[in-house]
Amino acid sequence: MMPAMRDVIVAANWKMHTTPADAADLARTIAARTQVEGVTRVICPPFVSLAVVRDALATSDPDVGIGAQNVHDDLQGAHTGEISAAMLAGLATWVIVGHSERRRDAGETDEMIGRKLGRAVDAGLRPILCVGEQLSDRDAGRQDAVVEGQLRGALRGHDPAALDHAGLVIAYEPVWAIGTGRNASGRDAATMASAVRDTVAGLGWGLRAGDIPVLYGGSVTSANIAEFLAEPSIDGALVGGASLKPDEMAGIVARAGLTAAARGTAA
Ligand code: PGA
Repeated sequence: MMPAMRDVIVAANWKMHTTPADAADLARTIAARTQVEGVTRVICPPFVSLAVVRDALATSDPDVGIGAQNVHDDLQGAHTGEISAAMLAGLATWVIVGHSERRRDAGETDEMIGRKLGRAVDAGLRPILCVGEQLSDRDAGRQDAVVEGQLRGALRGHDPAALDHAGLVIAYEPVWAIGTGRNASGRDAATMASAVRDTVAGLGWGLRAGDIPVLYGGSVTSANIAEFLAEPSIDGALVGGASLKPDEMAGIVARAGLTAAARGTAA
């Protein structure tokens, strides 16, 4: 596939780390160390730190997007402890949906993730949809089929034009690479990124599928980011553990800046 003019995106998923007392400083430090032309930066802190991170970045670096790590699939109602898309208004402009840790810990299904996508789009949030296979799937050579099933399940019934307009991003995150220090190879990730776009193209997206940014996630560090960004089909990274370390984020975003410059999206 031709290297498209897709944006280069680095999204930080802080998971269940940081407190409202330390999140602002960390966000400011990361923002200051990642001011690189052409790279879209997103920080996804825990829900309770969204407001402090928003306030910290509003003055220091409003270019950094703020994302939630999850959103409920219902509009409102008796769902103790949950957060709806409407509640995120003014706090976040991005949202991660279908992260494998939520599939694992909260039993999220593709159907539920599809509803979350709808809530995100209706609320004007830019969704990052996560897909990825288990190690047993890869060992059995089933990674394409698994990811295709996840995409079909989550995207079923959605209007491609609406998701396209919402700026849908897809993160390919093989579960066996998340938090393990064992990253996929750039080549394997690129093959999957192309498979993701092929699947989406077949779901009624057609050529629009070529515009979808596909990120790689799973043990990304400043030392291995180049391997992924050397692949034209990969448009950035969803970073977990390393996203809590300003040095790591500085290295990752600096390398992303080289890709942005080479693609001509940094102008
Ligand atoms: P990791 O997490 O970088 O710690 O592997 C990535 C993710 O879960 O998004």
